[in-house]
Amino acid sequence: MPTATDLSSKLESIGQSALAKYLAGVQGDAADILLNQLNQFSLDEIAQYIKTYGPTYHPTPPEDSIAPAPYFSISDTSWDRATYQKKGEELVAAGKIACFTVAGGQGSRLGYDGPKGCYPTSCVTNKSLFEMFAQTIYANERKYNATIPWYIMTSPLNHEQTVAFFNKHSHFGLNPDNIKFFEQGVMPSFDAATGDLLLSDPTHLATNPDGHGGAYKALHKSGALEDMIARGIEQLSYFQVDNPNAKIVDPVFLGLHAFSPESSGEFSSKMVAKASWDEKVGVFCRVGDTLSVVEYSDLPTELAQMTNDDGELMFNAGSIAIHAISIAFINKIATDPSYALPFHRAVKKVAHFDPATGQHVDPQEPNAIKLEQFVFDAIALADRSIVLETDRIEEFAPVKNATGADSIETSKRLQSQRAANWLAKNGVTIPTNDDGSVNATIELSPLTALCSNDLAGTDLPDSIEPGASIEL
Ligand code: UTP
Repeated sequence: MPTATDLSSKLESIGQSALAKYLAGVQGDAADILLNQLNQFSLDEIAQYIKTYGPTYHPTPPEDSIAPAPYFSISDTSWDRATYQKKGEELVAAGKIACFTVAGGQGSRLGYDGPKGCYPTSCVTNKSLFEMFAQTIYANERKYNATIPWYIMTSPLNHEQTVAFFNKHSHFGLNPDNIKFFEQGVMPSFDAATGDLLLSDPTHLATNPDGHGGAYKALHKSGALEDMIARGIEQLSYFQVDNPNAKIVDPVFLGLHAFSPESSGEFSSKMVAKASWDEKVGVFCRVGDTLSVVEYSDLPTELAQMTNDDGELMFNAGSIAIHAISIAFINKIATDPSYALPFHRAVKKVAHFDPATGQHVDPQEPNAIKLEQFVFDAIALADRSIVLETDRIEEFAPVKNATGADSIETSKRLQSQRAANWLAKNGVTIPTNDDGSVNATIELSPLTALCSNDLAGTDLPDSIEPGASIEL
């Protein structure tokens, strides 16, 4: 392993003189901790990233044309939904599907003190997001008489707390052997003005989780991929930790992904029609010849606002970060350097220790670059990737912010609306407000129903009282 002297001169040679000088003066355990951490990174690669994304960063505007992406429409009857549903159900029943949750994010916008998956989210009983997913998996295992293993990606920032939460709650009734936690990697954060690597304290580099796209490497490195192969898993149902309405075992989607001739069965996605031209979701587009997700901030306003003859947005396909991904494809992305994903750059506030002054710095303005990979950048590497439209209320109730749009308040309203829709389909009278919204708070446990059809023949009230708060 390289020594402090080796690393100091290496840091010097890649332009990190401040850190090199500091390292040369650190002694004892402190030096060992810092050395160990530095040795986990390829400093040549880091130098390359700083050169590309650091102070002299110049984004190159995309040269390719951008067009709306094709997708399987929810109202289109020309594709055989029932056949794909059957094929998808066969995959689940054969034990070839696993769930995969990315839960390594920092959740800074929500401002919750703990892993986001532990956040109380269900609209009446305040179940955590993890409990809601666990019960959904349990109910699907019961429905298909199959094991559905669950892989959860954490980060060094929340791994222990996440595992402790599951232990405390006895894995919510699931078999602990079928839940695998693994940590994603981190990237060093660096000063936006100087490109200097930052220290979070006197003995640690400041780092950030390497994005949900770090999942490919982490699945491979942690042994999770090997575990899936040993269990005969062929496809992953991928979803984010912050969407309690995600249909995490969806036979139609899985069947279409794995068996449609239009799909190579490697990477498929779900979309919802955008709520407004400026909704903050990525949009599926065709960039040149390739399907891509274009981030909302990168879609030119004139394109985002374009409408067709019916007045609908042309760039309408909003990503809800639900994907189906094959194990073989993940292996390819994780192990073949020609399939390496790009990094995305964000300028954020990063508190740090200044080695020159020995002071802790709490910046008032964004001061540092964080680099992340995005899971959907792999779409461009798949042979044929498809997009399936789904209903917004059925599948999208994100909890991103503490207040306002995409907050716990809007999520609970959407959860309640979905429950009301399912009950109404089964003959229950639902009280409404003047604007048509539900005048009640209704929580439907996944153990009661996974879709509206599951309610058929169950004991339901004739109506719900206006203003009621009920759990079924
Ligand atoms: P977001 O982009 O919403 O980020 O993550 P976040 O970290 O949760 O929240 P903010 O931006 O700090 O407020 C979308 C999903 O991707 C996961 C998150 O846990 C969430 O499920 N994610 C994000 C990771 O697993 N790792 C990452 O490095 C980033």
